[in-house]
Amino acid sequence: MTSNIIPVEPFDYIVFGGAGDLALRKLLPALFHRRRDGQIPDGCRIVGVSRRGLSDTEYRTLARQALESYVDRELLDPAQVDGFLTMLSFVAADATSASGWDALAKTLKGREDNIRAFYLATAPELFAPICKNIAKAGLATRKSRVVIEKPIGSSLDSARKLNDDIAKTFDESQIFRIDHYLGKETVQNLMALRFANSLFEPQWNSAQIDHVQITVAETIGVGSRGPYYDKAGALRDMMQNHLLQLLCLVAMEPPDSMDPDSVRDEKLKILRSLKTIDAGNHDDLTVRGQYRAGASGDEGAVPAYLDEIEGGESRTETFVAVKAEIETWRWAGVPFYLRTGKRLAERLSEIVVAFRSIPHSIFDGTAGRIRSNKLVIRLQPDEGVKLFLMVKDPGPGGMRLRYVPLDMSFAHTFKQRNPDAYERLLMDVIRGNATLFMRRDEVEAAWAWIDPILNGWANTRQKPQGYTAGTWGPSTAIALIERDGRTWYEDSF
Ligand code: BG6
Repeated sequence: MTSNIIPVEPFDYIVFGGAGDLALRKLLPALFHRRRDGQIPDGCRIVGVSRRGLSDTEYRTLARQALESYVDRELLDPAQVDGFLTMLSFVAADATSASGWDALAKTLKGREDNIRAFYLATAPELFAPICKNIAKAGLATRKSRVVIEKPIGSSLDSARKLNDDIAKTFDESQIFRIDHYLGKETVQNLMALRFANSLFEPQWNSAQIDHVQITVAETIGVGSRGPYYDKAGALRDMMQNHLLQLLCLVAMEPPDSMDPDSVRDEKLKILRSLKTIDAGNHDDLTVRGQYRAGASGDEGAVPAYLDEIEGGESRTETFVAVKAEIETWRWAGVPFYLRTGKRLAERLSEIVVAFRSIPHSIFDGTAGRIRSNKLVIRLQPDEGVKLFLMVKDPGPGGMRLRYVPLDMSFAHTFKQRNPDAYERLLMDVIRGNATLFMRRDEVEAAWAWIDPILNGWANTRQKPQGYTAGTWGPSTAIALIERDGRTWYEDSF
């Protein structure tokens, strides 16, 4: 890392669902990396909590296996691993009853001066009961915070109810709602690009920008998450949070500082300015798809969505594309085309800002077609930024033009390990920096835009359009953008 690593204050991370998938796959490896880089001081602890009883030794064995699976082998120095594991302990407690809470209180007693971060890596139904029990057991100290993950509700009403329940124990300033996309390096780079350079801001409006595309494509299917996913679908699972957050960062006005509320106030204004999509216009502005059997990435032949879920019948969308519009002076008339789906042709997340064409060409027909500039911000897999420009083809003999990128690959430029989003976010929680976390009103504003789309879909007889696994989604998603005379950007990066 080239950045300075400033150790955080001593903390206790209390991870509910401590032996679950998220904790083992993401949270423990992220904390391991932060300790390895010297950011976690001595005296910090990680307390795994779940109903399932594990001894400290058993939990450490589980954690060791997780590090071996999810951390690069060359970074697993045995002394570092052993040191990390000494931070871990385990308490069996039941989220929905009084069982085990005394033991947890005993474990935390005497450490009230530490930052106390409760990470709820559990099913969302348990968020409210856990918070209630934290309050009842007197565990919420002045220096406590709570971290929750999506799904934060499945509609505006359910999100409000959940937010109300959590607010009975924690003040809004203590609640950290994670959207892990905001922890991705390139997403933060989007803010650097816009606000640490003078080049783009004068161009960043409807006079210069023709449209914006945001694609988050996955090759995986729903796998074992069928029971959750079939109730959610791509609109709730990805669009309500990750894609809308990306849209906000592209579209927001410059905040006056990186102060959490300055940034979140600006994002909120964008969410509230989104043009409503409802029963009256969803046919024109949205496309739903569901994958059929096909071939995907390294997996080869893969089954249809309907064969992966129980019951074999469902109208849940595994793909969604939306033409969104932001009704502000800056953005009126600039479509934001958003699409996300599972079992698509590639794993790829990127934002494409397509500038307007030049007003008049001075070149004759031999120069070739003049394409408009594009700024492509690639979040994954290979992070970087490309600015596509027209330049002259080198050599004598006429003026032929070519479309080539100014290319900054982050891996190439910085030659360092790219930290996982959770590394940044877990430490921001301890620092009390909520800039990259969603405030209550943001989450609710996002649902307020999503709900009418869901209602529109619920009242139509149309099913999601089938698409073959391993393709770019239903043909109607291509039509959604092509009928505006534009096309999805699918050039290789
Ligand atoms: C999660 C969704 O929030 O994000 C998953 O619930 C999705 O369905 C995942 O697979 C994608 O995250 P990433 O970081 O792999 O792009």
